[in-house]
Amino acid sequence: MTDTRRVDAHEKVTGKAAYGTDRVPDGLAHAALATARVGRGRVSDVDTHAAEAVPGVLLVVTRFDAEELRGPGFIMGGGFSFQSLQPLLDDRIAYRGQPIALVVAETPVAATEAAELVTAAYEPEPVAVHLDAAGATTLVQEEAIPLPFLADIKVGDADAAVDASPVRIDRTYEHAAQHAVPMELNGAVVEWRDGTLVVHEGTQNAAAVRHGLAQQLGLDAEHIEVRSPYVGGGFGQKNSLQPHLAPLALVSRRLGRPVKLVLTRAQTFHNGSFRPATRHRVRLGADAAGKILAAVHEVDQQTSRHDLFPAMHTEVTSRLYGFEAFRGRHRLVQTDVQTPGYMRAPFESSAMFAFESAVDELAYATGQDPVALRLANDTMTDSVSGRPFSTRFLAECLRRGAERFGWAGRDPAPGSMRADDGSLVGWGVAAGNYPGNVAPAVAHLTAGADGRVTVAVDGHEMGQGIRSAIALLVANDLGIAVRDIEVRVGDTRVAPQHLTAGSWGTATALPAVHAGLRELRKHLNAADTGAVDVAAAVGRAGHPVEVEVATVGAGQGPEVVEQSKAGHLAIAGPVYPEFATFSWVAHFVEVRVEPTTCRIRVPRVVSVVDCGRVASPVTAASQVRGGVIWGIGGALREESLADPGRGGFLNATLEEYPVMVNADVHRIDVDFVDRPDFRFNPVGVKGLGEVSMVGVAAAVANAVHHATGRRHHRLPIRLEDVL
Ligand code: MOS
Repeated sequence: MTDTRRVDAHEKVTGKAAYGTDRVPDGLAHAALATARVGRGRVSDVDTHAAEAVPGVLLVVTRFDAEELRGPGFIMGGGFSFQSLQPLLDDRIAYRGQPIALVVAETPVAATEAAELVTAAYEPEPVAVHLDAAGATTLVQEEAIPLPFLADIKVGDADAAVDASPVRIDRTYEHAAQHAVPMELNGAVVEWRDGTLVVHEGTQNAAAVRHGLAQQLGLDAEHIEVRSPYVGGGFGQKNSLQPHLAPLALVSRRLGRPVKLVLTRAQTFHNGSFRPATRHRVRLGADAAGKILAAVHEVDQQTSRHDLFPAMHTEVTSRLYGFEAFRGRHRLVQTDVQTPGYMRAPFESSAMFAFESAVDELAYATGQDPVALRLANDTMTDSVSGRPFSTRFLAECLRRGAERFGWAGRDPAPGSMRADDGSLVGWGVAAGNYPGNVAPAVAHLTAGADGRVTVAVDGHEMGQGIRSAIALLVANDLGIAVRDIEVRVGDTRVAPQHLTAGSWGTATALPAVHAGLRELRKHLNAADTGAVDVAAAVGRAGHPVEVEVATVGAGQGPEVVEQSKAGHLAIAGPVYPEFATFSWVAHFVEVRVEPTTCRIRVPRVVSVVDCGRVASPVTAASQVRGGVIWGIGGALREESLADPGRGGFLNATLEEYPVMVNADVHRIDVDFVDRPDFRFNPVGVKGLGEVSMVGVAAAVANAVHHATGRRHHRLPIRLEDVL
């Protein structure tokens, strides 16, 4: 029996796993940031005297010159950072909390105290931080960023078809801005060793950190190493080069000492990316039986002034059902914030809240059961590309979920079900999907005389379990024990380290390792399949056997490997030459609404996922539970409140930004269809991490409606909205 436990569980629970800023090199100095106290404008007369007088302070820097520090470029524009704006280069303040000085001291306490003593004069300018604020500028995305994959989606004449439909739904939904609050705060330890810059930082994209720093500092990337063996939660916020890193490298070089910086929690709310606020107008046209004839999904999404963060909400909603006509449109609203970015199911979670709420409204408008209506609108063809889905087991997710949940026992009338304690009971369902993307990967496999196999590959371990998935693939393929396998990821010394995000990690790394195993078997003179006595085969070879392979996604050419090696994005999908690939999910949620306080609890959830073959059952189930928990939090708790007058986010602490805690989490029953998608790749795996969250918020909102009879068109749904 193969051991399916998380391979790094022991290291993690015993505290041996070393995260980026756990490193303490000799002579380590500590940095802290002083940040802007206006929401927009100019800064002048930054006064560092009091800061410099703090005992132990080594250096206070308020400005780098353009010679020593160049811009990082925006990751979605061919650059390396979550935003193009590099603080500490000029006097422009684009958002509250933007750094105005970097302090380095002997201790973190001295650095923090000194940073707080930095003062400045400002010329403030009016801010616009909300979608509707005066001064916010709205752009049509396909005009502002003319790239084919960001264009409006147009299948048939959806507007006319909706207007002509016997049943019509026309609703507007709002989704608050939200911030990821991972356990591991953004931060780094940097050190120079014989002219090589070594960066220890939790990141999902060691290659972008490496090549971005090379660009910013004018260095050869060969002289930069990025080590990120563990990430304490990525979720998209750690998907690129962070703006603190190049300044940190510069002060480290100036001082001739390693330097560590860990942002405070509040600073991550302004110096890390976040899920932007969105507004969705959904129009559905259907026949009297609930067959959807056409759909229109229009989205306004917040971005910053300095970058256009591309919106991709309709990529999923346009594929959820068989649409003969669909129109999707995105607009970007420029506001005075740091550039927003990716946060688990970055578009899909909010998009599906809107769309699957509207579909539920359609079920009520037509008197159809919400599960039956979804099944009646199933399809095996992507309406947008006209290609077949490589696999789509959404109907099975819905049927199996309904069975496990006991959906047949639901009285459809809102407010009709009560628990013994008098609470209103609501049962809601929603479906979801997530694009199947893939990136090129290089895998390097070594078989040793001791029978151990080392795998070095593109990938980052951020808790999702990529190391476990890789180890299990190798163990099952060669018939060796998991403990005889070492997986090395997140380190620019071992493989290129393309961004791990968008749920493409498994479908990227595993096919590369699979190809590497085929090659390794040849070099070990072993058959194509079946157990291998690795030690004996290496003994016969007389030396350790090493192989290296590179794989690309369907339809990609070999040049994408070079693109990845240069630290750039090189992803393909979800539409491929012969098919389109998505992962699918159905969530069934029970809520209980306490009648006097209107407190909403979620005692049980059933989630059934089609992620292709399940690569690692333990970590996969954990991924789904995590996505469901976050989805509930997104529906009922999380909202980043922007200050309309002064800019910035007001509730920038864990006290004031409530996330789900243990007491909020009850039964989450996870099941997988577990059917391999061999059209997508030879291992049969699709993405899982993000699809697990898609649709959860809609299922919660639909359940609240079933419990109370009240529809909520804005998230989060708070107690006072239900009272
Ligand atoms: Mo994910 S939001 O693409 O890290």
